[in-house]
Amino acid sequence: MLYILDTANLDAIKKAYDLYPMSGVTTNPTIISKENRSFLSILKNIREIVGEDSMLHVQAVSTTAEGMVKEAEYLTETIGGNLYIKIPVIPEGIKAMKILKKKGIKITATAIFTAQQALMAAVAGADFVAPYVNRIDNISGNGIRVVEEIVQLFELHNIDAKVLAASFKNVQQVHEVSLTGAESVTVNPEIMDKMLEHPLTDWSVDQFIKDWENVYGEGKITLDVE
Ligand code: E4P
Repeated sequence: MLYILDTANLDAIKKAYDLYPMSGVTTNPTIISKENRSFLSILKNIREIVGEDSMLHVQAVSTTAEGMVKEAEYLTETIGGNLYIKIPVIPEGIKAMKILKKKGIKITATAIFTAQQALMAAVAGADFVAPYVNRIDNISGNGIRVVEEIVQLFELHNIDAKVLAASFKNVQQVHEVSLTGAESVTVNPEIMDKMLEHPLTDWSVDQFIKDWENVYGEGKITLDVE
């Protein structure tokens, strides 16, 4: 499982990279616009934090294939490192994916609401496909089922593209997606923290420390005692 952080907030990225086994960062135009500062500075700052090898997924905003390809080439040159260009699964996006694949630019197909959109994007050359789990649930669909179907289709058709499940509102959705065999999830910083939260874990750790300190002394660790 690859854990990816769905944010452009630098403090949140620093924190997650410090604590958790992170493989990358995803952004979209909404996430970027929340930071309300220079687009290029945001991306360069993220690259500095995560390093050249970590995945960074950045979305093109053009709505024509020609524009998407231009943006992809520009971003690849300007940001560099392990970069994926997010392209929405509209017809012009599929056309752009075919061109970008030939140019060797890595693609994340995004704004996916159906398994057939994911399949066509993968056939067109996408490296990752990003189904929007919670947005599907919000329209009375079944986000987990769509992810299951994509995983199944990729197995059936011997497709190498990976699933990057996105748009989560709670840990249970992440858990159910993990059970489908999807290779990666992108979650916001709040959900990333919540993945580990459990009152009984905290209670157990407190109890261990209390019992230890009763015998070995307050603030002592294993190195300090015989
Ligand atoms: C990921 O790349 C998507 O853009 C993102 O997860 C969408 O999440 P949202 O539905 O919470 O906005």
